Amino acid sequence: MKKTKTLFIIMLIISVGALYYKNIVFENKVNLGHYLFYENKLSLNNTKSCGSCHAPQFAFTDGYRTSVTPLGDILPHNAPSLINASSLKYFDWANPTITTLTQQIKRPLYNAHPMELGFQNAYSDFMKFVNSDSLYSNLFAKAFPFNRKIQKHQIEEAISAYTMQLNSYNSRYDLGLKNNFLNFSNSEKNGMKLFNSSTLKCITCHAGKNFTLASVSMNTNDVYKNIGLYNIDYSNNYPGNDNGIYYHTKNEKDKGKFKIPSLRNTSKTAPYMHDGSVATLEEVIAIYARGGRIETTGIHIGDGKTNIYKDSLITGFQITESEIKDLINFLYTLTDSSIEKNKLFINPHLILP
Ligand code: HEC
Ligand code: HEC
Repeated sequence: MKKTKTLFIIMLIISVGALYYKNIVFENKVNLGHYLFYENKLSLNNTKSCGSCHAPQFAFTDGYRTSVTPLGDILPHNAPSLINASSLKYFDWANPTITTLTQQIKRPLYNAHPMELGFQNAYSDFMKFVNSDSLYSNLFAKAFPFNRKIQKHQIEEAISAYTMQLNSYNSRYDLGLKNNFLNFSNSEKNGMKLFNSSTLKCITCHAGKNFTLASVSMNTNDVYKNIGLYNIDYSNNYPGNDNGIYYHTKNEKDKGKFKIPSLRNTSKTAPYMHDGSVATLEEVIAIYARGGRIETTGIHIGDGKTNIYKDSLITGFQITESEIKDLINFLYTLTDSSIEKNKLFINPHLILP
């Protein structure tokens, strides 16, 4: 009897110890990932890192219409915010085959057409650097204590582990959820009512605590929508054959369908949409109110309102000037101003030890 009791205590100590150790190692992995996320040496010409296109002052976007690579190539899409990306069931604007962060980060690291970070070209120089640098040697040894030789997959693993930690729910809206919106002005309350209304229907697609069905549903018909931004030459196409998930599914009805983005921190993430083609929230609302965007001059002539692939929820609505203000004031309550001050989020290379 005494023997089994002793054995039980020993087992308990071992499991608690292992669990504790596992947590420490995970924290070390996140810490390493934090440095790597902001490491310009991961790019082929040492000029950009993940943090160049996903910067905390823009809620982890970059402020460009569409992103620019280290070689100066223009990517087709606008950089999405990474805040609460750990909640997503699908990653990137229009790739239903990417369902995990580990899969996703291979694209910025290795994509060659166009070249993004071009880590494959920076790899051997980076390894030489890391092995001779005391900060990184130490960070790697702590994150991967049983494996002294640094490997590529460890770099990917650490960056994914870090990116999964970019969670923040400290907006005035989050406070409102706790205090029955006592902290909201009348205008903000009215904006919230409009957002949830059956006339505007914003909440139908921008649903759940991250304001996107992409964090709620696995069904691609829920997650990807054509909101009538284009109808090039009245052919029902989007520009440059950038027809959303149609590229992957080859199903005509999927033309122009892009992922519903989160609306958290939109006051910091302009310009908007998959191609950054909408500059302000006023313009966004005008497009929804009209039931699609019309272009009468330039190379994108056509009326998105009559695009046959447009979602049936985008029917247009009447809205007054003061209601537009209310709706925008509500969207502003989704801004989390703690992001820029969070030590876990900002560039660790800039913080003196
Ligand atoms: C040159 C700019 C650039 C760099 C560098 C970059 N990204 Fe991105 N990132 C983008 C763009 C643009 C997209 C959208 C891609 C698309 O859908 O076509 C994106 C998408 C993402 C997404 C998907 C988010 C969502 O809402 O679906 C994640 C996660 C991400 N990037 C993480 C990273 C990480 C981690 C790194 C570093 C290894 C990185 N990015 C480097 C521009 C960049
Ligand atoms: C049918 C689903 C649907 C409805 C309804 C809807 N949205 Fe969207 N929303 C989307 C999709 C999809 C996108 C991205 C479209 C693209 O880039 O092609 C988007 C983009 C946005 C963006 C840009 C965000 C960014 O970071 O680029 C804002 C802001 C926005 N919607 C607000 C609203 C508001 C306000 C309403 C209500 C008036 C609304 N949405 C109704 C699906 C919807």
